[in-house]
Amino acid sequence: MQTELKEYYKNRATEFDEIYTRPERQQDIQQLTAFLKNSLAGKHVLEIACGTGFWTQKYSTDAASVLATDYNEAVLQVARSKDYSNPNIEFVADDAYSLSNVSQKANACYAGFWLSHVEKNKLSPFIQTLHKNLEPGSTVIFADNLYVEGNSTPISRQDAEGNTYQTRTLKDGTRHDILKNFITEEDFHSLLSDSVKNLHYKKLGHFWYGCYEL
Ligand SMILES: C[S@@+](CC[C@H](N)C(=O)[O-])C[C@H]1O[C@@H](n2cnc3c(N)ncnc32)[C@H](O)[C@@H]1O
Repeated sequence: MQTELKEYYKNRATEFDEIYTRPERQQDIQQLTAFLKNSLAGKHVLEIACGTGFWTQKYSTDAASVLATDYNEAVLQVARSKDYSNPNIEFVADDAYSLSNVSQKANACYAGFWLSHVEKNKLSPFIQTLHKNLEPGSTVIFADNLYVEGNSTPISRQDAEGNTYQTRTLKDGTRHDILKNFITEEDFHSLLSDSVKNLHYKKLGHFWYGCYEL
């Protein structure tokens, strides 16, 4: 499953940003951008699964520094090719489950549209690894898709552990079986409420975002 996901995003790298041109998502993009800029201003941010740097470019203007990671060199190449007004941004290849190339602890984290690709039994280990790479008191923000009937790609199957999947087609015609769990407010709370402070989850029209402090 990990191999299929990696291959899919590698091959989608140059067409990825088209998802953000959809008219019905513009209001959510504006609201999430404002929230990220405000919450991450002045912070040393570790970004997980940054993809093509769409959100990095938006919030980084006000951050102290950004270490943006993704395990796919193809998406990092697109991210590095963009213009950033902040000179303190580095894009580094790393696997979110190990974060072995992160050598300095950050005091904030952003992971966009990534938690939905984590298998249910890997959520807790991922969160533990992430928190070990952050300073006490860090701000952590996740954002992801809500399932919107008639707009979201339908769920094609569910496995024995309750993970859900979509069949996605790239421009080259290849079809991919992609893990996509739509994380509810209840899921977010049960994953985190025992170990963090000031936990919030907010629904927009097509996206949700959640934040907390360590
Ligand atoms: C839906 S995209 C989100 C990209 C970006 N955060 C955004 O919101 O535009 C998911 C990203 O997760 C990356 N990814 C998937 N599994 C990963 C892993 N184990 N470690 C690091 N990155 C991963 C993919 O390469 C892809 O760029």
